[in-house]
Amino acid sequence: MAGDVITLITADHRRVEALLSRLGAERGERRATVAELHALLTAHARAEEDRVYPGIDAHHGLEEHKEAEILLDALRRAEAGSAEFEETLELLAGTVVRHIRDEETTMLPLLARTAGDKRLKRLGAAFAERRQQVLRALAAAGDGQVTRADLYERARRADLPGRSRMTKPELEAALDQAAQ
Ligand SMILES: [Fe+2]
Repeated sequence: MAGDVITLITADHRRVEALLSRLGAERGERRATVAELHALLTAHARAEEDRVYPGIDAHHGLEEHKEAEILLDALRRAEAGSAEFEETLELLAGTVVRHIRDEETTMLPLLARTAGDKRLKRLGAAFAERRQQVLRALAAAGDGQVTRADLYERARRADLPGRSRMTKPELEAALDQAAQ
């Protein structure tokens, strides 16, 4: 059923897993992936806490969300590829995978059993709305966003030719390619 809360939450979980495996495999530009993961996880967690958990009396996820938040901050501060970065990434992946497994084996099946289609759709709309709000707020604050200047600086260090004429998406693509 499109737009229901179970489909939306599950789709986010798959996105998070894909970003974590991209980071783990050192594919692409890792700082950009960390920024993307940070925005996605923050918006996902807020939307669950504010719009989904209260209705079903699920408090368990809150601690995992806090733990993930602390680890995400540490990951954003750590130098990509440093021992601290790798350790933090491993801890974060563990926490997030546990959260995903818990929700997908307990909370979501419970919702599927107890909530009707209408309620699942209503929760889905509320979840999506809050998630979008948080993503927009993060983008407006420039939080979780990599600027063109950040990318240019990395391109300069990597000595990428033609960097000064590149737009932000072009710099992203060139850095991605150089990292392969
Ligand atoms: Fe979740």
